[in-house]
Amino acid sequence: MTESASTTPASRAFPTDFVWGAATSSFQIEGASDADGKSESIWDRFCATPGTIIDGTDGTRACDHYNRVADDVALMVDLGLTAYRFSIAWPRVVPGGTGEVNAAGLDFYDRLVDELLAAGITPYPTLYHWDLPQVLQDQGGWTNRATAEAFADYAAATVRRLGDRVTRWTTVNEPYVIANLGYLTGEHAPGHRDLNEALAASHNVLLAHGMALRAIKEIEPSHEVGIVINFTPVTPVGDSPFARERQQIVNEFENRWYSDPLAGRGYPAFATERLGWDQAEVLPGDLELIAQPVDFFGINFYTRKFVAAIDGERGDRGDETAMGWEIHPPALGDLLRFLDDEYDFPKLLITENGAAMPDTERDADGRVADHDRIAYLRGHLEQVAGAIEQGVPIEGYFAWSLLDNFEWAWGYGPKFGIVEVDPDSLERRPKRSALWYADLIRSGSLPTD
Ligand code: FCB
Repeated sequence: MTESASTTPASRAFPTDFVWGAATSSFQIEGASDADGKSESIWDRFCATPGTIIDGTDGTRACDHYNRVADDVALMVDLGLTAYRFSIAWPRVVPGGTGEVNAAGLDFYDRLVDELLAAGITPYPTLYHWDLPQVLQDQGGWTNRATAEAFADYAAATVRRLGDRVTRWTTVNEPYVIANLGYLTGEHAPGHRDLNEALAASHNVLLAHGMALRAIKEIEPSHEVGIVINFTPVTPVGDSPFARERQQIVNEFENRWYSDPLAGRGYPAFATERLGWDQAEVLPGDLELIAQPVDFFGINFYTRKFVAAIDGERGDRGDETAMGWEIHPPALGDLLRFLDDEYDFPKLLITENGAAMPDTERDADGRVADHDRIAYLRGHLEQVAGAIEQGVPIEGYFAWSLLDNFEWAWGYGPKFGIVEVDPDSLERRPKRSALWYADLIRSGSLPTD
């Protein structure tokens, strides 16, 4: 991925059928962690392990979305969202990981879907956003190929129940994070630190996607099925051969490791050789399963990363969000053009984009005045509009996140929501950015001021 300078006009119109959404995930907002037959997930277990979550919090209550579905959908209506991306918790639907389906767990998503459709909002559920049933982790989790098979069964059960109303399915969210933060750095559940486990997990997660896609298409051939990949474009500091070599290996390991096999090219050669991965987990037929055509390709984009020949050497970094992530919107435009030029995915969806900001400023009436978040969203949406004008088929955009929520190992500190959630009362209040987003959705055009 290379960078190019891009200019943006003051105002930009989006296609009239552009999908305007916001995104969340089950563990980050639902709470109700043992309601209605839900079993323990790896994130329940991880949070209960001392030293894993910066502020020592967990998902027991989160935003209590489980008990506030109607109010939260009403909030989406106020904002004018045309789509909502959420995830389904596997431990609610198949508490044993495999086998019996828990109708009460599916009832919750059934209600959510009905509320959304009644409000004219298109549901975009993701089947796996990191909350694996702990019982499957006890058998190796994503290092175990059987987890991919179990995932396809769980996906099929969900589609059988909701597929008369839901027609767009995302299999997994961010395989890179699942494999590497879960099994290599240990920052995420299940907290392992083992390169071989991470490599096996990366393959089994992609395989799970392929098996689920096949299962969904067998039940509902006309439904759209996609996957969500997080991309972090890599920029070398200077142009020494060392920096460029590191750029290639990091880019292959973090980005192309997922997009290449999904596009039918197998795992990137340079990085696999450097890692010494013999691909013993890759059985005949696996790469074909992974490369079955998707109907849409989801992209989560937050920031880019620099790599230097010498550790610690810093590039020319722009401003940062409260996560310390550099704000550099042109990297999104370049990424969208790259994906369009390089591969043949029929359409792209921005499934997550947003920023944690300090949220310390308030208007006179007490509303969070998050002009920095507005600037972030605007900068990235300008890039999306520019790419669409250049012919990149982008179907829609989902802001991360609808609500302030549980930010994994960071706990409740980082605020990613366009809607504030009071940590005690859990009362929701749209921030300025939410009102700005609602105006944008209404007008279909980025405002000039
Ligand atoms: C993404 C995750 C999402 C959220 C954002 C900030 O990697 O998919 O759950 O944590 O980052």
